[in-house]
Amino acid sequence: MLLSLLTVSLAAGSALAASTDDWRRRSIYQLVTDRFATSNDSSPTCDTDDRVYCGGTWQGIVNKLDYIQGMGFDAIWISPIVANVEGSTGDGESYHGYWTADQNSLNSHFGTADDLVALSSALHARGMYLMVDVVVNHMGGTSVPPDYSTLAPFNSESKFHPFCWITDYSNQTNVEHCWLGDNSVPLVDVNTEDDSVVDFFNSWIAGIVSNYSVDGIRIDTVKHVRQDFWSGFAEASAVYTVGEIFDGDVNYVSPYTKVLGGVLDYPTWYQLTSAFESTSGSLSNLVSTVQQAQSSYANGEFTAGSFLENQDNPRFQSITTDQGLVKNAMSWPFIQDGIPILYYGQEQGYTGGGDPANREALWLSGYVTQEKPLLQLVTSLNAARKAAIAANSNYLSTALTFPSVEGSTLAVLKYPMLALLTNGGSSSTPSWSVSGTGYDANEALIDVLTCTTYTADGSGGVSITGSAGEPVIILPTIAFNQTYCQSLSGSS
Ligand SMILES: *[C@@H]1O[C@H](CO)[C@@H](O)[C@H](O)[C@H]1NC(C)=O
Ligand SMILES: *[C@@H]1O[C@H](CO)[C@@H](O)[C@H](O)[C@H]1NC(C)=O
Ligand SMILES: *[C@@H]1O[C@H](CO)[C@@H](O)[C@H](O)[C@H]1NC(C)=O
Ligand SMILES: *[C@@H]1O[C@H](CO)[C@@H](O)[C@H](O)[C@H]1NC(C)=O
Repeated sequence: MLLSLLTVSLAAGSALAASTDDWRRRSIYQLVTDRFATSNDSSPTCDTDDRVYCGGTWQGIVNKLDYIQGMGFDAIWISPIVANVEGSTGDGESYHGYWTADQNSLNSHFGTADDLVALSSALHARGMYLMVDVVVNHMGGTSVPPDYSTLAPFNSESKFHPFCWITDYSNQTNVEHCWLGDNSVPLVDVNTEDDSVVDFFNSWIAGIVSNYSVDGIRIDTVKHVRQDFWSGFAEASAVYTVGEIFDGDVNYVSPYTKVLGGVLDYPTWYQLTSAFESTSGSLSNLVSTVQQAQSSYANGEFTAGSFLENQDNPRFQSITTDQGLVKNAMSWPFIQDGIPILYYGQEQGYTGGGDPANREALWLSGYVTQEKPLLQLVTSLNAARKAAIAANSNYLSTALTFPSVEGSTLAVLKYPMLALLTNGGSSSTPSWSVSGTGYDANEALIDVLTCTTYTADGSGGVSITGSAGEPVIILPTIAFNQTYCQSLSGSS
């Protein structure tokens, strides 16, 4: 029943103006620029508690593209690139890039304009995409009231909303007009109702995209700006835009899917985390949230960014280190309808808690790729997704279904991929029995995570007993590159 076994993958050499559709087949590696790699491969100490610049640069990223691409990623998302508040504040330094001081200058800690162009070119030479993080909602202050003259190009109070802290998240006006941050670093709320501000941002984003050949934009704090600001901004960027709407309610997030290319799928993230953080999590809550998002989001879940970790939340392994649970949760973004995003360090088993502990320097891992089970898992998941895309020309528009949800096991079907998940934990021996898979009678199947082979039953059904609470990711054997399995048995 395979639709097209030998679909030639699209050449992606010229990566300008990548559309939302171009991004669907991609897999994104999210990194914190300051923490990913240094220019000369040195390994300076980096205590996350200090909240200071540790030395990562754009040149450092260029040097480590083999590491990222080796796991099967074909896009990266980097920290905001523009100049930030300098020096120490009560909340540390602006190493993360979310405290803009000057929209028109680059953050010199990360390199020069030439370095950024070099990063973009190096990515494109590999057929990879560059996604840049941007902040429109606010700029960084260092006192209340802030010294407006330190901000550029908006250097007067009139370009900002009058000061008030956000106090009431049920009042959308309060969320949009009042300020985030604290007395040490108030996030000075830009007046995005002002026409000159709107005009600036629309031409600014077009300039960022063209000056640095950017392929996609991740947008910070989207829910803190009026919804109807975003369609003009997204259009002006002319690339895929994915917005952070930090909220677990599908009904709250859905309207933003109409004004941006996609959203970071926070509603699913909340349920994903809670489903797999312990052996008593609810798989059916995850299922119902996904189904709700599939029917409410403008593009279903297809253009949403699907993630388990990011720079704002405790790493999953700070909640549980049960490797059965961890591997199931990590698999999710790669079997979902959306675009998978992996937060750097997860592949190395990093366990940092909430901000700032979740922003560890990756150089401290040595970028080791052997004997790293989670890195191997991610590599296999990317390979499986690519194989599924190649085998079914409709894969990227096939909505996943749940042929079986039973106790601590869950089957997720997105033909030709069948993901068998469990939150039984590493001391459990899960088993799944799934019919209606779409497989042929007696078809040869393979678990891409272990390269174990199976055979479908006389009606194409699948009955599999797993081990150690680990996920099983099934593809028809014919759809999967067997060389990959040889390299797998060779390396681990
Ligand atoms: C690497 O660069 C840093 C910062 O510029 C410098 O302090 C260090 O000496 C360099 N290390 C090597 C091995 O060149
Ligand atoms: C909502 O927030 C705005 C801005 O802070 C405020 O002016 C308004 O009174 C609030 N509305 C309600 C109903 O509390
Ligand atoms: C893009 O480059 C042009 C020409 O050098 C410059 O005027 C503009 O400010 C740049 N825009 C951004 C956002 O960097
Ligand atoms: C199959 O996998 C091997 C090892 O990962 C790789 O070198 C090769 O290019 C792959 N072949 C195809 C057709 O994708």
